[in-house]
Amino acid sequence: MKRTIYCGQPRIDSIGKEISVCGWVQRRRDLGQLLFIDLRDRSGILQLAFDENTCRDVFDAAVTLRSEFVIQAAGTVRERSAKNPALPTGDIELEVTSLNIISTAETPPFEIEENTDVNDALLLKYRYLDLRRPDMQRNIELRHKAAKITRDYFDEQGFYEIETPMLTKSTPEGARDYLVPSRVHRGKFYALPQSPQQYKQLLMLAGFDRYMQIVRCFRDEDLRADRQPEFTQIDLEMSFADEEDVISMNEGYIKRLFGEILGVDISLPIKRLKWREAMDRFGSDKPDMRFGLELCDISDIVGKCEFKVFTEPVKNGGSVRMIYVPGGGTMPRKQIDALVEFVKTYGARGLAWTKLGENYPSNEEGSMSSSYAKFLTEDENNAILTRAGAKAGGLILIVADVKDDVVFASLGALRIECAKRLGLIADPSVIASAICGAQGAICGAQGARSNPDHCIPKYEFVWITEFPLFEYSQEDERFVAKHHPFTAPMDEDIDLLETDKINCRAKAYDLVLNGSELGGGSIRINTPELQKRMFRALGFSDEKALEQFGHLIEAFKYGTPPHGGIAYGLDRIVMHLAGLSSIRDVIAFPKVQNASELLTACPDIVDNKQLEELGIRLT
Ligand code: AMO
Repeated sequence: MKRTIYCGQPRIDSIGKEISVCGWVQRRRDLGQLLFIDLRDRSGILQLAFDENTCRDVFDAAVTLRSEFVIQAAGTVRERSAKNPALPTGDIELEVTSLNIISTAETPPFEIEENTDVNDALLLKYRYLDLRRPDMQRNIELRHKAAKITRDYFDEQGFYEIETPMLTKSTPEGARDYLVPSRVHRGKFYALPQSPQQYKQLLMLAGFDRYMQIVRCFRDEDLRADRQPEFTQIDLEMSFADEEDVISMNEGYIKRLFGEILGVDISLPIKRLKWREAMDRFGSDKPDMRFGLELCDISDIVGKCEFKVFTEPVKNGGSVRMIYVPGGGTMPRKQIDALVEFVKTYGARGLAWTKLGENYPSNEEGSMSSSYAKFLTEDENNAILTRAGAKAGGLILIVADVKDDVVFASLGALRIECAKRLGLIADPSVIASAICGAQGAICGAQGARSNPDHCIPKYEFVWITEFPLFEYSQEDERFVAKHHPFTAPMDEDIDLLETDKINCRAKAYDLVLNGSELGGGSIRINTPELQKRMFRALGFSDEKALEQFGHLIEAFKYGTPPHGGIAYGLDRIVMHLAGLSSIRDVIAFPKVQNASELLTACPDIVDNKQLEELGIRLT
C-alpha cells in the first residue's frame, strides 16, 4: 500500500478515484458511527472518513488513532457533504477502506498548528515537531525553491558551482573566527570560513571565470534577528568584470527570484544611492526606502545660537540634524518621552523636540510645545520650522552630537521607530498573510486571508555604492577595512590610501531591501603592489601581511584577471520572501541567542581523552 498522492493534492476532479495517502494525524472528530481524521503531510491536509457501517474492522482500528500517529490510508475519493472552503481539499474526503497504523505517538508537548504561541525554547527543543507545522513546512519549501532558482539562474549565466574548504586558515577579516584544533599539528588551529572570500578570488586566478556557491559560513558574533553564527551565503565571483557587470548580473537574478517566487515584478535598474547620500538622508547605509522621514542637517541654523547643546557639537566637528514626522504631533507626551529614551540606546545624549498641534500656526494654546524653542531666537526657530516644512500636527525631532556616527545611528533608528508607530510599515506577519493569501505564488496553501489589499508588501531595493574603504575601529585603535582588505579603492582615490583614509572610497556595493542588507560585494584589488599598499594602510607590517596573506600576494604574481563579486545572505533573502522578521524561521535547525542549539544541547563538554589527543588543557 504505497502512497499514490500527497494529502494536499486531491481536488473535486479526483472524485471516484482510488488513492492511498500517508501522513500524521492532525485531528479527529468522533461522531459515533462516523469518525473523521484530518491527515497531514508536507503538502496539506486531507479529511479521511471512517464509517462503522461500511468497513467495521477499519473503523475499529481508526478509533484508536491519536494526534501525530503515522498512518497509511487507502480508499475512494468522494464529495464532502459539509464542505470546508478554508481548505484546498475542502470539497472532498477519502472514504477509507484500508488503514495501516505505522507508528503510534506520545502526546506532543505542544499542538502542531499554524501560528502557534508556544514559547520559543520549547519549540526549538522539539524542533522536529515545530517543523511539522504548516507555516514552517512552507518556509523550508520556499528556501528550497529560492536555492533552486538561484542555481538555475547562475548556471544559465555560465557560473560553475565550486566547493571551497571548511577547514581554513584564520585571517583577521572582520568577525571572530570559530577555531578547530588540529590533532596532527598540535597547538595549531583551523578556522571555519567567515566566507569563501580568498578561495573565490583564487578560483578567478585559476581561470574558472565565473564561480558561485551556496555555502555555509561561520562567524562568532552576537546574534540578532538577522544574524546567526552559522548562516548560508549565495557567494559569487566574476572575472573580467567591473561594478556595472556585477550589478547588472545581479539585478537579473533578483528580478527572476522575486518574480518566480512572489509574482512581483521588480523594475530595473534598481535605484542607487552613494553611501554619503544614504547616511545624510537616512542615517544608515541600509536605508528603508518604503517611507520618507528623511534626515535634515540644521547645523547651519543653530551652530551659533545660545543653546550649548546645539553649538558645542557643531563647534567640535559634529552636527545637529532633525527628522520631521508629519502626524507625529498627535503622539501623547508619554510617547515622546519614550522616543527620548529610545535614542539614548543609540548613544545620543537626548532628543530635542517640537510638537505642533492641530491648530498650528495659530497663537492659541496648544498650537506648539517644544523642549528647546525657548533657548533659540524667533528667527532660528522659524528657520527650523521652514526647513522641516512643518504643518499642523507635525513633530520635529532633533539630535545633536560631537560624533556624526551617533547622530546618524540614533536618527536612522528613530525614523524607523516613528514609521512603525505611525503604521507606515506593514507588520511582517501581516505581510506573510498577504503573500500566502495571494495568487499562491509561493505556498498556494490553506486559508483565505483577511484583507490582503491592506498590506500588499512593498519591495524597495536600493544599491548603496561608493562606501568608504576604511573605518576607524575604536576597539583596535586603528583603521580597519570597512568591507574586507581585498576590496579595491576607487581609481580616483588610490592616492588617498596613505594620505586621507577617511575620504578614500571603495569599489564596493551593498544590495539593500526594505532596510535590510541582503548582500554586499566589491571589485577586488588585483595587483600585488596595490594589495601590499592596502595591507600597509591597515597597519600590517610587510612581514605580518606575508604571514597572513602570503598565498594571495604570491598568487597575484602569476597573471591575475580583474575580478569582483558579491555574497548574499540566503537566510535573509528567504526571510524577506516569506514576509518574516527573523532568519531563524527559515533555518531548519537554528541557534538561539547565546549561540547554543536547544535540540541537541550543543555546544557541550567533551571527553578528557578527546582533549588530550588534541593537546588541550582547559583552564
Ligand atoms: P559580507 O560580510 O557583507 O560579505 O556578507 C555577505 C552577506 O552575508 C549575510 N550575512 C549574514 N547572514 C546571517 N548571519 C550572519 N551572521 C551574517 N553575516 C553576513 C548578509 C551579508 O550581506 N566575502 C564578502 C562578500 C564579497 O565581497 O563578495 C562577504 O562575506 O546578508
